[in-house]
Amino acid sequence: MNLNEVKIKIDGVECVAKEGEYILNIARANGIFIPAICYISRCSPTLACRICLVEADGKRVYACNAKAKDGMDVTTSSEEILEERRAIMGVYDINHPLQCGVCDQSGECELQNYTLELGVDSQNYMIADCKRESTNFSSVLHYDPGLCIVCERCVTICKDMVGDNALSTGPRDGAELDKELKESMPKDAYAMWNKLQKSLIVPSDESGQTNCSDCGECLSVCPVGALVSRDFVYTSNAWELKRVPATCSHCSSGCQIFYETKPTSISDRSDKIYRVTNEWNYVSLCGAGRFGYDFENSGAIKDEKQFAKAIKAFKEAKAIRFNSTITNEEAAMLQGLKKELGVKLINPEAKAFQSFLKDFENYRGESLYSGNYKEMMNESNFIISVGSALRHDNPNVRYIFNNIQKLNKGAGLYFHPVGDTLIESLGKNVTPIYHTPGLEEYALYLVLDLFASKDELPKETKNYLESFHKKATKTVQETIMEDVTETVVDEETGESKEVTKKKPKVVEKEVEYVANELASLLGAPEGFDDIFEKMVAKADNFSMVVGEDFYAHPRAENLAKLLAFIEQYTAIKIALIPPKTNSLGVALICDLDEKADGYTIGYNEVGDFRLSALGDGDLDMPALNQQEGTFTNMHKRVVPTNAALSYNGYELNDIMSALGLGEQLSIDWTSKLPTRKGFEALSFDALPNGFTNAGEELRGYMLKQKSTKAKAFEVEKPDESCKLEGEIAYRCNPQRQFNDFTNKAHQIFEPFALYVSEAKAQTLGKKVKVEIDDVSLELPVEIDAKMSGDVVKVPDFLSSKEIYPLFNAGRFKQVKISEV
Ligand code: SF4
Ligand code: SF4
Ligand code: FES
Repeated sequence: MNLNEVKIKIDGVECVAKEGEYILNIARANGIFIPAICYISRCSPTLACRICLVEADGKRVYACNAKAKDGMDVTTSSEEILEERRAIMGVYDINHPLQCGVCDQSGECELQNYTLELGVDSQNYMIADCKRESTNFSSVLHYDPGLCIVCERCVTICKDMVGDNALSTGPRDGAELDKELKESMPKDAYAMWNKLQKSLIVPSDESGQTNCSDCGECLSVCPVGALVSRDFVYTSNAWELKRVPATCSHCSSGCQIFYETKPTSISDRSDKIYRVTNEWNYVSLCGAGRFGYDFENSGAIKDEKQFAKAIKAFKEAKAIRFNSTITNEEAAMLQGLKKELGVKLINPEAKAFQSFLKDFENYRGESLYSGNYKEMMNESNFIISVGSALRHDNPNVRYIFNNIQKLNKGAGLYFHPVGDTLIESLGKNVTPIYHTPGLEEYALYLVLDLFASKDELPKETKNYLESFHKKATKTVQETIMEDVTETVVDEETGESKEVTKKKPKVVEKEVEYVANELASLLGAPEGFDDIFEKMVAKADNFSMVVGEDFYAHPRAENLAKLLAFIEQYTAIKIALIPPKTNSLGVALICDLDEKADGYTIGYNEVGDFRLSALGDGDLDMPALNQQEGTFTNMHKRVVPTNAALSYNGYELNDIMSALGLGEQLSIDWTSKLPTRKGFEALSFDALPNGFTNAGEELRGYMLKQKSTKAKAFEVEKPDESCKLEGEIAYRCNPQRQFNDFTNKAHQIFEPFALYVSEAKAQTLGKKVKVEIDDVSLELPVEIDAKMSGDVVKVPDFLSSKEIYPLFNAGRFKQVKISEV
């Protein structure tokens, strides 16, 4: 047993757990069942349902919020506890509409399950119901308050995990409970019922709409059919659907999902995906993962004529242009083609990431990166984000940033040129520093200055940082105790006398302090030194996430050096966010080239001969919901995905076979992924895809990391010429769009447009011309209500628009904008 571990007994079973862990989580990890409705792992307990009642050392406690103490003895089910739980379930069942036959949740409804489990077979209480109207909360959310048991899971997940805080409880105007019940009913059941009669769920926004990220996390955690998808409602019963365990293919988070399928109709027996669900206790999805699932390439056939043309094209090709929305196996095939046919492999976003990763690895003397996102979420209490528009680039990293504020009572520094009011709202200890684009090197120097122990730094760096420290004076308020003399009249004698008392008085005074000009140069808020002092006061576990802005930065190599330097001289653990779905896999597997020349094959990209999983090319390819294979996600984990839908056309492996380079099946490439890069020689079928009860992830395997000799280096001073001024565009997608595939999905609505803040929109018309060097784009203007500032966003999710080359694979660009 470690120092911070405790031993407790639950129903006689000895359990070892981390000190401070909740009894419920310990029970779950040890396979002991305690009913629980309102609690969600990695969110704060709300005590809304009270059904997790247990006895700990003879006292009644709620297992979801009672922390284990060494030697504790827990009983999960005495007769008294069972009686209380039965009464709670009995109350939940009062006036719950009997529409289970058509309810979306029927078959996997926790109200049904617990009612049966706890043996509630008669109704002991009743009360008149009030009218509760169903309503649409957003373009994807439908709420039926008649079914709602006000467990508040939806409110909790939105606040503690997602960070939108878009839902809250509101008044229900239900009938008053008979006061006599207070005496006659079990006490928790009464308290819960009393609250139930008074509350409903409402959007926090006064408009009555959630105006949120439309991630669907709230409906995934709803235990009943109260919050459901507008698209899925009344389309299927849960038991008709086949669950295909898979991995979301839209961003580098590589989240666990289930595609849920059944035949399209009575006459069309081909499978269709009806919805995506997930292990919501352990994984949180974004709106693209949950709603962007119908991107399959349907109707593809084995077109032999086109296949012959494809083979001819491959024999002629000088280059293959592709993006990272492919599997590791496909990346290995492309690398095979490079080796055997000498073609160049062009993927600018993965190339930039690969070069950055290589530099970072060389300077720190270890492969990949030290930060581990899961550990970060569980343990870190200070997170720094650099080089990423977190709300858009990677929803899961934004959830981690938020969860650290809410659950670990942490702090967060957010460096970025684009203002984001959502990030600002994630916690009172979140400080955004909206700097001018091009000052990213200064941001890392500020991190060094704030977190490194100066005496250990090389002298030159120390002197450079000190050159920004200037003596200055500021006015501060101080409370002093002042002698105040008052005349007091003695009530008995009527005599007056003078009494002197000490009284507090607030005074202002000038004090000298050391101003940090680096913080001012970056546009940190007024009084940053004091703000930072408070932020860091209780922090002892520091992490940093680094995004795509750094990878194709004109000073990328120096940024990589600075990050290695930060890791060397501070306690900060750093994790990189791979820019697209499988950029990490592609960066490890493929030797990428800078430029295509000559005849080019485009794989889901523009080319002289185009392979397309979108069904719009010269030869069809399967989409990622029609393929088996693996991705390498940002967690440095190789995760498996399965085919949810059938596909009848050719695959990349067929082309390889026709060229004499193929395997029998695409997944035969899984065991051939390069072990020198950390992959394991494991077959696809050997890869697990699930979680344990304790939430441990058993999906695929972790990449092996290895140490090398760190390359000697000196960090350079920032290059001031990188600073961009004037009208600036940022290459960045709207929240639920990542690629051509999300755009194809029928529930993803964000258009290809210029995204701007509300204030900026006032200065532009409905449609604008954006001139980037000598190319001009006409784009409609869309308001992003959570954006602030003047920088505008140009999306890159449509490959046909060829946005990457316009930005030279970088992300900021000076542009001209005029009204059309
Ligand atoms: S909508 Fe669902 S998750 Fe939200 S409070 Fe009601 S029952 Fe609970
Ligand atoms: S969809 Fe997501 S952001 Fe919107 S209310 Fe639900 S959990 Fe919150
Ligand atoms: S799960 Fe503990 S109070 Fe609801």
